[in-house]
Amino acid sequence: MGLENTNDVLMETAVFEEFESNVRSYCRKYPVIFSKAKGSLLIDQNGIEYIDFLCGAGSCNYGHNNDYIKGKVIEYLQNDGLVHGLDMYSIAKGEFIQFMQKYVLAPRGLNYKILFPGPTGTNAVEAALKIARKAKGRSNILALMGGFHGMTLGALALTTERSAREACGVTLGNATHVPHPSMMKNLDTIEYIDMILSDDHSGVDKPAAIIVESVQGEGGINIVPDQWLRDIRALCDKHDMLLILDEIQTGCGRTGTFFSFERGGISPDIVVMAKSIGGIGMPCSIALVKPEYDVLAPGEHNGTFRGFQLSFVAGKAALEFMLKENVLDETVRKGKIVQDYLAANLPLIDPGLTFRGLGLMWGIDCGAYPAGTAHQIRQLCFENRLILELSGREDSVVKLMPALTTDDATLMQGLEIVRSAITQVITATVASQTTGDEQDNTKLFA
Ligand SMILES: Cc1ncc(COP(=O)(O)O)c(C=O)c1O
Repeated sequence: MGLENTNDVLMETAVFEEFESNVRSYCRKYPVIFSKAKGSLLIDQNGIEYIDFLCGAGSCNYGHNNDYIKGKVIEYLQNDGLVHGLDMYSIAKGEFIQFMQKYVLAPRGLNYKILFPGPTGTNAVEAALKIARKAKGRSNILALMGGFHGMTLGALALTTERSAREACGVTLGNATHVPHPSMMKNLDTIEYIDMILSDDHSGVDKPAAIIVESVQGEGGINIVPDQWLRDIRALCDKHDMLLILDEIQTGCGRTGTFFSFERGGISPDIVVMAKSIGGIGMPCSIALVKPEYDVLAPGEHNGTFRGFQLSFVAGKAALEFMLKENVLDETVRKGKIVQDYLAANLPLIDPGLTFRGLGLMWGIDCGAYPAGTAHQIRQLCFENRLILELSGREDSVVKLMPALTTDDATLMQGLEIVRSAITQVITATVASQTTGDEQDNTKLFA
């Protein structure tokens, strides 16, 4: 592709190991130094290409360096467009708002004010919590077990992953977690939530809101049924609490519709978005708020980087691109390719493998195998030039999140790498289980 490194001297990973904080994370799983990216490919400084099934954790839905989006950003910069604007009125922001209203919200019959909370998803969650608590005058928020909503303290109180919670060093409060519908087959979670909110001896404080991911991304690709979305909407109305949809990972077309909640035909009170709303990996988040809940007074939620204009330019261009290239339909079509591929191949490897997903967001569940199995699969994929991440309990779910713009050949090539890695790891694991040999996969790829 002509994207090889042209620098004279290659960089050493020691730069990071010596001087970057220990908290660094993704880089430990893919210890090469990336220099370029195009479409579905990440390219390291040696010019080695990796197929990207991680996609910036969902921030690059429309492909790396998407020519259309990048072109708009370059043109804007070349014309000395405003880059930093606090939350002042600007052409870039105005155009983003107008486009979002006209082509995304209005056609779906959605009426929202757009709030710009800051550059990251967790900023949007914090803003949503503030709004819900102020609007309802209550502090408690319901959240689903397995959910991930961000790493700042308010959002972290809703996030369930133990290590992330423990690391914050304070007691996290004002949240009540309820089981996800996928967790206990015999539990009607709607009935359960209704019960704890109705029973004056449940010990659960009346909440201001419930926050829901329609597909849990970090939690292991756990999907709430369409009917559950309708039922939770009705329950929110019954108990006078707001429904917050976290679309930070599932939004921007990832599941085949712009918002993943569209399959339920519901209208949430607040929708939080980030990641691909910045178009080309630019930092941006938004909270969409029903006008009656637009209760924060001027300045009650603030921040320096709520007006990064390049995000607005890229964000609008991404929406244009999505419409003109039929990205949503294409995502559904490619999602079917992934589904058919997994359905045809995984049972041939081992019946213990299950999978689930929507659009181009899929998870292969290795929970039936020893801890560390999925880590091994990720490592083998990496060695075979495919980047992907794990999610769910004990990182047991192999997550596939290709760019929505990926071409069919690259998609198939990535799937083949995944299949081959799973075959190798699972075959060895099953063989060692039948011979009684202990195989502790956690030690192999710490
Ligand atoms: C569903 C969901 N909510 C919130 C967040 C937090 O977003 P950020 O990392 O931009 O703060 C994430 C990040 O992965 C997410 O997947």
